[in-house]
Amino acid sequence: MRRFWCLLFLSPLLFAAVSAEFDDDEGEVAQTFIVRVENELKPSAFSDVERWYKSTLRNLDSNPISDSEGIGESSEFLHIYQTVFHGFSVKLTPKLAQRLQKRQEIVAIFPDRVRQLQTTRSPRFLGLSNTNPGGLLTESDSGANVVIGVLDTGIWPEHRSFHDEGLGPIPSNWRGECVEGDNFTKNHCNRKIIGARYFSDGYEARRGKINSSEELKSARDTNGHGTHTASTAAGRAVGNASLFGYAAGVAVGMAPKARIAVYKICWQYGCMDSDILAAFDQAARDGVNVISISVGGGVVPYYLDPMAIGAFGAMEKGILVSAAAGNDGPTKLTVSNVSPWMMTVGASTIDRTFPADLVLGNGRVITGVSLYSGPPLPKKTFLPLIYAGNASIGGDATKRAGSFSSDTCLDGSLDENAVRGKIVVCDRGGNSRVAKGAVVRKAGGVGVVVANVAPIGEGLIADPLVLPGLAVTESAGKSIRDYINSSPNPRATIAFRGTKLGVKPAPVVASFSARGPNIDSPYILKPDVIAPGVNILAAWPAGSSPSELADDPRRTEFNVASGTSMSCPHASGVAALLKGAHADWSPAMIRSAMMTTAYSRYRDGKPLLDEQSYNISTVWDIGAGHVDPQRAVDPGLVYDLTVADYLNFLCASNFSGDEIRRIYRKRYSCGRKQLKPWDVNYPAIVVQFEAAAGGDLEVVVTRTVTYVGDRAARFVAAVTSPRGVSVTVTPAVMRFRAKGEKRSYRVRIKAEKMALRPGTALWEQGKVVWSDGRRQVSSPLVVMWSRLFDRGG
Ligand SMILES: *[C@@H]1O[C@H](CO)[C@@H](O)[C@H](O)[C@H]1NC(C)=O
Ligand SMILES: *[C@@H]1O[C@H](CO)[C@@H](O)[C@H](O)[C@H]1NC(C)=O
Ligand SMILES: *[C@@H]1O[C@H](CO)[C@@H](O)[C@H](O)[C@H]1NC(C)=O
Ligand SMILES: *[C@@H]1O[C@H](CO)[C@@H](O)[C@H](O)[C@H]1NC(C)=O
Ligand SMILES: *[C@@H]1O[C@H](CO)[C@@H](O)[C@H](O)[C@H]1NC(C)=O
Ligand SMILES: *[C@@H]1O[C@H](CO)[C@@H](O)[C@H](O)[C@H]1NC(C)=O
Repeated sequence: MRRFWCLLFLSPLLFAAVSAEFDDDEGEVAQTFIVRVENELKPSAFSDVERWYKSTLRNLDSNPISDSEGIGESSEFLHIYQTVFHGFSVKLTPKLAQRLQKRQEIVAIFPDRVRQLQTTRSPRFLGLSNTNPGGLLTESDSGANVVIGVLDTGIWPEHRSFHDEGLGPIPSNWRGECVEGDNFTKNHCNRKIIGARYFSDGYEARRGKINSSEELKSARDTNGHGTHTASTAAGRAVGNASLFGYAAGVAVGMAPKARIAVYKICWQYGCMDSDILAAFDQAARDGVNVISISVGGGVVPYYLDPMAIGAFGAMEKGILVSAAAGNDGPTKLTVSNVSPWMMTVGASTIDRTFPADLVLGNGRVITGVSLYSGPPLPKKTFLPLIYAGNASIGGDATKRAGSFSSDTCLDGSLDENAVRGKIVVCDRGGNSRVAKGAVVRKAGGVGVVVANVAPIGEGLIADPLVLPGLAVTESAGKSIRDYINSSPNPRATIAFRGTKLGVKPAPVVASFSARGPNIDSPYILKPDVIAPGVNILAAWPAGSSPSELADDPRRTEFNVASGTSMSCPHASGVAALLKGAHADWSPAMIRSAMMTTAYSRYRDGKPLLDEQSYNISTVWDIGAGHVDPQRAVDPGLVYDLTVADYLNFLCASNFSGDEIRRIYRKRYSCGRKQLKPWDVNYPAIVVQFEAAAGGDLEVVVTRTVTYVGDRAARFVAAVTSPRGVSVTVTPAVMRFRAKGEKRSYRVRIKAEKMALRPGTALWEQGKVVWSDGRRQVSSPLVVMWSRLFDRGG
């Protein structure tokens, strides 16, 4: 499948470099490996693990058959991991790595991989405002005792959003530090930014030393992504915020008093697993409560994924890890960061848009979106309109062998004679949307239309384009091209309409939001929730342009950005508030509260829509639904999960003892438990019937809830059965006298024979809802009819 790079919120430059790098033949050249060690096997002769690790490596290298170049330049460790993971990262030749792997104390060796980074209105849209007495902000004191670790591109500490006026002392158990570096001193931390560190050793081992005339080797953000996400999670309330007047108002994060600990892990060409793992390790030692990580890559099995393994260690330490679901939607099976011990966050719209109209010569008005802010096009003048596919150097782009129709408006691809003085229609894809505008301007064009291509459909993202222009949907793109091809003299003009509020319907699932099922374990519903991630206004560094184009001289205090990178910190901030309100809740309890109170329908009872087609969304698009913070603070019941529960899930998923040890470090005996992967106490239920089996077509699932309310309560079950099955819940009523009481219930799912006939749907969704009249504790219930996803099957 072709990846639509433009959907990821990153500079196009980055992609070119990273994909080229992955094509390198690594041969016997030293590369970075992350090594997991069983520290319990350390001989007592070594006073500490570092000496032991060093000696192990020296012994490898002194082996007579080894090449002297074997261990990278210095045999220095890139990182030593001690908290969420035991071991180190180091440069080795693959040959030496193989030799190392044979040693008994070495649990696993992972080659280092590159990952990518994936307002004013969203808090209010989520129902978080100070005018709501007794709500989540009040109960949590706006998160004042909670620390959010933001693993990203760093921060711009001088930004108004990070001032510390009115904040109490730093939580006394905080052990983090403000690490100095390029243009970043201890004075840049305050009672808001209470920690700042950077992790570049893995990156520099791969890319060479950081060039300080290009980016700063410190926690200072020279990109913008990290400043944006940190302020979304925990920015202070600041007035007069806008992007060139767009989205004007008060900008505030979800948890305005929560403390921010910055862990810079991403650099100009990406983020290395070895550095990410070091940041997880350090954040756990520093004492963060929530980790927010808007970074991702493809899905590999949990036991091969340092990010999943780091997150497991964090979960063991009571830290909730909130991660971006990825931007490869709307295609199914694209969701990433899928481990059961993470909260995986998809993206949706809010009720705000930035409309712009393309008025065609035939009078037709096509409405798209734009954040263009420079001089408008001349009034009442229609300009020639051309499709980039008909104006490319070397002929028609769509006819080039093997090429993709969306590769239009790439740098140097436009014929200046064909586009000068015209409005140019580009297809989305190949480079960033803002870069297309820059290419058109450079070639002499005066306006740009960036049209979606399949499968993006109708989802729109507004951009601060460098010339008059707008983004339009896939169907609009087709109409415009039809007009161009059928009109003897195609012309158009563009009108900008500013900021529009109160848009309905909202939320709608963002087209780009990555979708389930979870390719690694379909029985763990992913994404878990959706949250605002389209056209989000948040803080921006004074040193970066809003388009992220290097030659864009514009500067802005706030920027509007889109992606699951933006939805993740919304959920992280809400999680921080919940932690503030309920200090004793485990990560699984916090996630459960957010999932079971999430909504999947509008106020009128109709299901949430999917922006791709404006058809109704499914569980694979929204998970449990859209977060609803004010309800999450008082969920009634939660589904808790212990470390053993997760390990039993791995057992039930047929992971081998060695694979489990790679994740858990220790050995875990699966015993003879006859567990199914859907028995894990997740707040969603996904089961599978073996369509071909002749046996009993019945699955029984057990769940255990913990009561987290104050007074005695009585909960009654209500089931919406998926089509083709009948579902019964026993007991149907559960009574609780006091906080902390646990009760189990069983869900019996019986397939009807007809559901197995060929041609019927491969899956159906329903739900189980427990209600005490006031609180609704809702879990999606999904049945699948194929063996498509079986491990090894
Ligand atoms: C260093 O930080 C200051 C703000 O304190 C900023 O004005 C300046 O541009 C920064 N320098 C670089 C090279 O980013
Ligand atoms: C650092 O980057 C600057 C600007 O891109 C370049 O001119 C210089 O040659 C680079 N230095 C090194 C050592 O790569
Ligand atoms: C609001 O922001 C604008 C642009 O950033 C600035 O010109 C103006 O002076 C600000 N007004 C106030 C009251 O701060
Ligand atoms: C533009 O290219 C399309 C095919 O991509 C072709 O059908 C159309 O005739 C061309 N239009 C012009 C005006 O050349
Ligand atoms: C949307 O729904 C229509 C009508 O049910 C269907 O024909 C179409 O394929 C759906 N589109 C997508 C993208 O699922
Ligand atoms: C695990 O393996 C057993 C035995 O091969 C099989 O019956 C079961 O379906 C497998 N479970 C999963 C989740 O793949």
